[in-house]
Amino acid sequence: MSDHPDLTPEAVTAILRGVLDPELGMSIVDLGMLKDVRVSADGDVTVKIALTTAGCPLRGQIQSDVVNKVHGLAGVREVDVEYGELTQEERSTLMQRARLEAQRRAPETRVAPTTRVLAISSGKGGVGKSSITANLAVALAAQGRRIGVLDADIWGFSIPRLLGVAGRLRAQKNAEGKGLIEPIDIPVGTGSDSEGVVRVVSMGLLLDDEDTALMWRGLILAKALEQFLTDVDWGQLDYLLIDMPPGTGDIQMALSRLLPQAEMLVVTPPAKNAQKVAARVADMARRSYMKVLGIVENMSAFVAPDGSVHEIFGAGGGRRLSKLTGAELVAQIPIEPQVAVTGDEGRPVVLAAPDSAAAIELTRLAAQISSTLLPPPEMAGCTARIFDLIAQAESGEPTSVE
Ligand SMILES: Nc1ncnc2c1ncn2[C@@H]1O[C@H](COP(=O)(O)OP(=O)(O)OP(=O)(O)O)[C@@H](O)[C@H]1O
Ligand SMILES: [Mg+2]
Repeated sequence: MSDHPDLTPEAVTAILRGVLDPELGMSIVDLGMLKDVRVSADGDVTVKIALTTAGCPLRGQIQSDVVNKVHGLAGVREVDVEYGELTQEERSTLMQRARLEAQRRAPETRVAPTTRVLAISSGKGGVGKSSITANLAVALAAQGRRIGVLDADIWGFSIPRLLGVAGRLRAQKNAEGKGLIEPIDIPVGTGSDSEGVVRVVSMGLLLDDEDTALMWRGLILAKALEQFLTDVDWGQLDYLLIDMPPGTGDIQMALSRLLPQAEMLVVTPPAKNAQKVAARVADMARRSYMKVLGIVENMSAFVAPDGSVHEIFGAGGGRRLSKLTGAELVAQIPIEPQVAVTGDEGRPVVLAAPDSAAAIELTRLAAQISSTLLPPPEMAGCTARIFDLIAQAESGEPTSVE
């Protein structure tokens, strides 16, 4: 048992529900792949995972996801992953579950299991969540990533204005006759041949026609989020960024239930006494076993053209919140009038004024997310394997491959 009261095998198991087998699209816990969890008094965690098969880059992927998630718990020192193989019987049970799951969906969400989900949150309004979401979206798209932005600020939406989206969402029936909402795609010039795309869904982009209005009328907030996740045809995305409404209410609970793989960036202003609210968000994340990927301090010191530094909104808040929560301070975005000006014009500052101090920091954060903090899974060479496994399970053949 760890000296840290909250670091228990149960807590480790709960946070590991957020690690999905990238092929099967289900949690490794629900699939029965988590075999053992041990926690030492010093906070060393050992996790035993049984794999469907030993080979393929998936092993490394699952390992790094497991290690990263467990480090999201307070009091963890080292994380060790041991491997076992599933027995023949366990393997067919797992395949059975995965197959049932595949049939049962009409997916719970239409977000692909390989999509990284990042919610941008804070306890408080007006700290820059939406501006950061919009800028990270275009910065990641400019790096060639496929990006979705879900504006979960249902009634206080600002993403359409920030990204300069004017269109209206349309619904289209799919093969099974189900109405699916198509996101609006905005191209992001990358300067090279490849053109990035940001797919946007927001309450501000809904058709005002009768049917659509009816569909939404009277929906409670959490239900609206659910609808965005289940009825939007997101397609294959590398990242889904979610601009969260201020506060710690239903939406955050709904998010952790619907997308247990989601991780969170917590935005805080730099004032030392301003983190109480942000700390509440981090606390809520922990209780719902979402990992806080990092703390982003926004509106940090303004650097004037003459080089003088002005800590208009105070200093040290991000660092203090990082200490308080154990999550890393991943960015400090300076106050930058261009953020507001270019936001109003619908051209995020990373595109409109890439040399400004805020744009440089936001672009750097985007690169850090895609390279080390939350890189997309390495799936090369694995995708067809699961269909073989399922076919074998169904035909009653032995299911070991390799
Ligand atoms: N680094 C910055 N420098 C200067 N202005 C900024 C910066 N970040 C955000 N702003 C401005 O602060 C205001 C609030 O930002 P934003 O709307 O992104 O916050 P929010 O947390 O999403 O707010 P809400 O809770 O209302 O959704 C906007 O006018 C925005 O342009
Ligand atoms: Mg906002």
